[in-house]
Amino acid sequence: MIVSRSYEEFAEHRDRMEGSIGFVPTMGALHEGHLSLIRRAREENEHVIVSVFVNPTQFLEGEDLEKYPRREEADRKICELAGVDLLYMPTADQIYDEDELCIAAPKVRGYILEGARRPGHFDGMLQVVMKLLNLSRADRAYFGMKDAQQLVLIQRMVRHYFMKVEIVPCPIVRDPDGLALSSRNVYLSEEERRRALSISRSLKRAGKMIQGGEYEVSRIVEAMEGTLRPDVDELEYIAVVDRDFRPLERIVPGESIILVAAKVGSTRLIDNLWV
Ligand code: PAJ
Repeated sequence: MIVSRSYEEFAEHRDRMEGSIGFVPTMGALHEGHLSLIRRAREENEHVIVSVFVNPTQFLEGEDLEKYPRREEADRKICELAGVDLLYMPTADQIYDEDELCIAAPKVRGYILEGARRPGHFDGMLQVVMKLLNLSRADRAYFGMKDAQQLVLIQRMVRHYFMKVEIVPCPIVRDPDGLALSSRNVYLSEEERRRALSISRSLKRAGKMIQGGEYEVSRIVEAMEGTLRPDVDELEYIAVVDRDFRPLERIVPGESIILVAAKVGSTRLIDNLWV
């Protein structure tokens, strides 16, 4: 495995690759969720590129940019064992110039839900993903359904900017107790982690209701609130949208996403269910 820190070195190795390329962009502190994307890329492509970059432009003032877990050595080993060919670990000055042109998230879909709680977050996310996709010139790029709004916005960007890459959505990986894996889970104390389980539990409850024929969003949300309220410290939103992030009043099977964002202690967690 080749590890590149500079853009020039990365580009040189990328240019030498022939055949299909699968790309997995990450912010590091790799866990089984990331690994599932890497494995899938490994299966479907001749070469696999992974990037580890804690992108400063997608963190808002006062968010956890400094505190965000950094595990470069472990990440390197995990990538090596997973059969990654090229690992890009750039510094911010390799990625950003001063006074750059920016791309902006769409005014509705980029500013509801996560975008409303973290205004500007998706601008920075799309900016770095555009750069990384252009740099890697991958045939396929792999993203987790865990970050549903991020995934949908990336799909829209690729469509709107006529980018050639195929975006491959990958299912959410969970701990056996149901908690969706996230690099931010390390912030949770044992007691907080226990309370955080109410998030996946509420989604499971919603899934069961739908299986039982309940499609009325208001009733599903009410039941989810009942599961969540006693355990989380702040319930930011429960939302039901279609696959293009338009709000739904009734579940459309095969077309709907149920989303939750909540704080447990000071840790902000998101999770969702595609139904
Ligand atoms: P990061 O949070 O490191 O996640 C990298 C990728 O792993 C994303 O596509 C995310 O959806 C996926 N992922 C995270 N947890 C997962 C889980 N439990 N199951 C399945 N997939 C999971 O998302 C980012 O980084 C950044 O915004 C990035 C796209 C790299 C741009 O900076």
